[in-house]
Amino acid sequence: MTQSEKRRLLVQEELDKSRSPQERNRLGQFATPPRLAREIVQNAAKLLPKRSGRMRVLEPSCGTGAFISAVNQCIGLIDAEVTGVELDAAFANVAQDIWGDRTKIINDDFLLWAANPESKFDFLVANPPYVRHHHLSQIQKASYARVAGKSSGFSPSGLAGLYVYFILGSTHCLANGAVATWLIPSEFMSVNYGSTLRNFLTDRVTLGRVHIFRADDLQFDDAQVTSCVVTYTNHRPTANHEVLFTFGSSLTAPDRTESISLVQLQGSPKWLKCFEANSDETDVTTVGDLFNIRRGIATGANDFFIRPRNEFCALGISADYLKPILPSPRNMPLSEVAVDDRGWPISTGSHALLDCTGYSERNLPGPVLAYLNSAPERVRSSYLVRGRTPWYAQEQRPTAPILCTYMGRISGKSNNAFRFIRNRSLATATNSYLMLFLRPEIANSVTQEWIDDIWHSLSSLATKTIVSEGREYGGGLKKIEPKELARVPLPGVNSPAKELALF
Ligand SMILES: C[S@@+](CC[C@H](N)C(=O)[O-])C[C@H]1O[C@@H](n2cnc3c(N)ncnc32)[C@H](O)[C@@H]1O
Repeated sequence: MTQSEKRRLLVQEELDKSRSPQERNRLGQFATPPRLAREIVQNAAKLLPKRSGRMRVLEPSCGTGAFISAVNQCIGLIDAEVTGVELDAAFANVAQDIWGDRTKIINDDFLLWAANPESKFDFLVANPPYVRHHHLSQIQKASYARVAGKSSGFSPSGLAGLYVYFILGSTHCLANGAVATWLIPSEFMSVNYGSTLRNFLTDRVTLGRVHIFRADDLQFDDAQVTSCVVTYTNHRPTANHEVLFTFGSSLTAPDRTESISLVQLQGSPKWLKCFEANSDETDVTTVGDLFNIRRGIATGANDFFIRPRNEFCALGISADYLKPILPSPRNMPLSEVAVDDRGWPISTGSHALLDCTGYSERNLPGPVLAYLNSAPERVRSSYLVRGRTPWYAQEQRPTAPILCTYMGRISGKSNNAFRFIRNRSLATATNSYLMLFLRPEIANSVTQEWIDDIWHSLSSLATKTIVSEGREYGGGLKKIEPKELARVPLPGVNSPAKELALF
């Protein structure tokens, strides 16, 4: 390892420590391990045509310069003149300090810089920021999409992560025949928003190789995605072109290798299926990998057991017998439920569930007994109530951090038939919701911020993605059952359970 590289690794560690996980997520700041950076450069360089003169190399999101270092170390292979772009001034300054004597470092937003690149490059190597779309503002998305569209002729979906804009937006920075290699999340191969990138890779450039890393072989100890390396040459493909797909921990010595025709990839919305990779190892996480999903409670008579809290209080019923519960989805316009200092939801109308489970009538205070005695016959004789002992007992459900309205239509008001609600209160819910409980094996290892991220990802799912596991009735009514929701792929996250299994 060179002295410069040793210095870089020390500073990288300090910079990483100085940032919170949230800050690093927002700019996708996860450095490439040095060995992997060298392997990526060496393998992609094999596709470079023999040439005389210096090669112009572009690193569009260089950080402290893992790939600059790798290119320098492979200098016997590549006689290179490197340009690195980096948005974060602290990282750009470090790169300038360490590599500045033989590398041009530009402190800028790559997607703004790429709108008017100063020259064409022969080799691009990158681990672009993996920033999920909900961290990008509408203004950013619109201006990045313009650059991507102008540069490549392909416009990303609004649900695409930042790396998709980077790949498309870099196209006109590349000379004809240039080679580009990208370390990116592998989910683009199977999710809807990945279709633009898949089309770009099959129609606009000549895709040479896709290497998929094992899901349990995370290349970054702190990033929560499964990675792949995509390498292509900047010219249009021939009709009979074949793409090399490889799988395993090492690019140089993959566990599996397969050649897949472009025609097969062009017709497929699921590239991993073409590769017939073990889906457990390579496919995206499903909702069921993260949550146990159950319906909310069925009271048997909601209008009797659930009322605004102040109505129960006015009858003299004390808080000991009341539990917060969310109103029905029809009366719940909020997508996020805030909490007061007693765990009750704020701004949802303070609905309360009368829950005397575990108390016999003898032990109940007068006001509660009086209310129960006022139950009309239709309540006592309802099917569920009749089957319970005592008749006023309720099912017990702890609070769930995320709920889903499991039935709905796309309307003028909303493009989504299903709503995911982030619940920060202690409220339970009726069976007009599905309740998403964290799986016990991950419950203690995830943060509220992580749950927020998952909630955003769930809320970004297209209705058709959810319905493809659920069902649609005449008239456009769409419905999803707990087991069906569990099968819905959730792009962008690895199950922390898989990561925990590594330790
Ligand atoms: C995944 S890290 C990779 C860093 C470095 N290339 C490496 O491999 O270690 C992505 C880098 O992109 C930078 N970045 C984020 N948004 C950017 C943008 N719009 N333009 C340029 N760099 C950006 C981040 O600050 C971060 O340093």
